[in-house]
Amino acid sequence: MDIKTLIKETAAKVETRLNELLPAEDVAPVTLHKAMRYSIFAGGKRIRPLLCIEAAKACGGSEENALNAACALETLHTYTLIHDDLPCMDDDDLRRGRPTNHKVFGEGVAVLAGDALLTEAFAMLARVPANERYDVRDYVAEFAFRTGSLNLVGGQVLDLEGEGRQLSVDELRAIHHGKTSALIITSLRLGGMSAGCTAEQLDALTAYGRDLGLAFQIIDDILDVTSSPEVLGKSIGKDAREQKATYPALVGMENARAEARSLTAAARADLAVFSARRAENLLAISDYLLKRDY
Ligand code: IPE
Ligand code: IPE
Ligand code: MG
Ligand code: MG
Ligand code: MG
Repeated sequence: MDIKTLIKETAAKVETRLNELLPAEDVAPVTLHKAMRYSIFAGGKRIRPLLCIEAAKACGGSEENALNAACALETLHTYTLIHDDLPCMDDDDLRRGRPTNHKVFGEGVAVLAGDALLTEAFAMLARVPANERYDVRDYVAEFAFRTGSLNLVGGQVLDLEGEGRQLSVDELRAIHHGKTSALIITSLRLGGMSAGCTAEQLDALTAYGRDLGLAFQIIDDILDVTSSPEVLGKSIGKDAREQKATYPALVGMENARAEARSLTAAARADLAVFSARRAENLLAISDYLLKRDY
């Protein structure tokens, strides 16, 4: 199957399951459930669910056993986007090709829709079947660690504190690792864990996620400079206006592109423990993400 078809088919399965798992729009409080669904079903590449499911398959597991984890990842990711766009954070008006959540529902409901999505994500994760190596408590501890103050939320704080400051490359890496790679790492790890993966496989998925995640955020930084709102579905030129610490700002556009290429090559090498057939889709995803234009 070619990569575009794989992405499309996986997204459709994830969206069907998300629709079943999330409270319906007509359930009270109606405004809250409308706001949650507004951002979840606005599109989005569904990359984290894809990585989760493909990691599971690479470890010999099933799509069905990974699917609720995939939904948990997308649900938590969507909460981070809603909060990231708030006026007190990046102050963005456009997301996934639509007005941002707070523009439509107001800041109070947007904060609470984010809170509810974060909570629902853990309920979804708790539905992932245990296996001979991993219990539900392992999934929850893994997810909480990668998305909490030591990783994702911590990275968002460093990102805010980095505004207007000249950072070192190491400091910038720490921001990008926290705010973006951590969730990508846990997408892969939870997929592997749902498949009862070995410690060696889990280490390989972690290394792959670290390299791929950093490449992903470097490309996000590049697209903020080079893309257009029509293609990207979000406003561009925002990072420069907010004086964000980004790769193009710190090392220049050509060096940023070269770094994304070299991290993608490193990510491919991290998968060496898997057979070529087992790793095929993860390899294709890393190449696709390097060349993406949105
Ligand atoms: C955007 O993530 C936020 C970052 C961590 C860079 P995506 O580029 O995956 O956004 P969607 O889910 O496709 O909208
Ligand atoms: C967002 O990074 C990371 C999280 C939401 C955790 P950015 O602020 O660069 O993402 P975009 O460009 O708004 O999607
Ligand atoms: Mg941000
Ligand atoms: Mg932002
Ligand atoms: Mg960005």
